Amino acid sequence: MSTDSKVPSVILNNGVAMPQLGFGVWQVPDDEAAKAVATALEAGYRSIDTAAVYENERGTGEAVAASGIPREELFVTTKLWNSEQGHDSTLRAFDASLERLGLDYVDLYLIHWPVPAKDAYVDTYKALEKILADGRAKAIGVSNFLPEHLERLTAETSVVPAVNQIELHPQLAQAESRARHAELGIATEAWSPLGQGRGLLDVPALVAIGRKHGRTPAQVVLRWHLQLGNVVIPKSVTPSRIRENIEVFDFELDAEDLAAIGALDEGRRLGPNPAEFNVA
Ligand SMILES: NC(=O)c1ccc[n+]([C@@H]2O[C@H](COP(=O)([O-])OP(=O)(O)OC[C@H]3O[C@@H](n4cnc5c(N)ncnc54)[C@H](OP(=O)(O)O)[C@@H]3O)[C@@H](O)[C@H]2O)c1
Repeated sequence: MSTDSKVPSVILNNGVAMPQLGFGVWQVPDDEAAKAVATALEAGYRSIDTAAVYENERGTGEAVAASGIPREELFVTTKLWNSEQGHDSTLRAFDASLERLGLDYVDLYLIHWPVPAKDAYVDTYKALEKILADGRAKAIGVSNFLPEHLERLTAETSVVPAVNQIELHPQLAQAESRARHAELGIATEAWSPLGQGRGLLDVPALVAIGRKHGRTPAQVVLRWHLQLGNVVIPKSVTPSRIRENIEVFDFELDAEDLAAIGALDEGRRLGPNPAEFNVA
């Protein structure tokens, strides 16, 4: 397989390069993940976003191993599930993730949710700092952390998270979090970047902008993210869409397009509010 990638990188706060567009595998069953990830790698994706709770780290790892792409050209992210928060349990959960992935390091390890009621994310993050120091993750970060959680984390730990992966799409543009991340030197990674494909991709303004550029609404939305500086991880199990979603580096939205997309923000979450999501 060719090792060329069309995807530019963002440089994280510890100097590690992360592809600005990757492939998400939430809700892809383990026995289908290898095929979907293989299609994505074939299409030029080099970054894969999985999580212990997705139960497809094994399939993801199989596709990575079978691809023949040199490990250092790939960027693999996985996440610690809520039930494993705590210092020692995190170290054990990380070992189990590596084993399922068939890897000896990940590129990025994230705390999946803050789980405020558990009050364990600081201790959990200290375990991530150890994993980082041991070279078993090239970068560490968080997911679904609100600015208040980041304030506490950065006050009580040493390593500023490289990434905060949050729900972000045109109907939930997350201006406050993005601004805080920029101040702290944290890269913003958008989950459900396409608004889970439901409804958003039929919005007339996006269809019209797509027509103007000869692109699909999904490509317009991904391009909007990229021009904001977000890292994006669209998911699809449909080969044509997997390929479509990476063809977003050869056109540019203008100021009028960006303003029209900006006007779609309703502050509407598809997923839970992290302040209240305490599922363990
Ligand atoms: N950290 C977290 O808490 C968290 C939470 C949610 C998601 N994530 C991560 O973010 C990734 C992406 O989010 P997501 O999976 O929720 O949603 P998404 O990427 O916004 O949307 C995926 C949906 O859109 C459809 N789709 C994809 N490309 C399309 C296209 N070009 N045209 C029309 N429809 C298209 C897919 O359908 P088909 O698959 O049927 O093609 C799928 O139903 C996840 O896979 C996961 O890695 C993280």
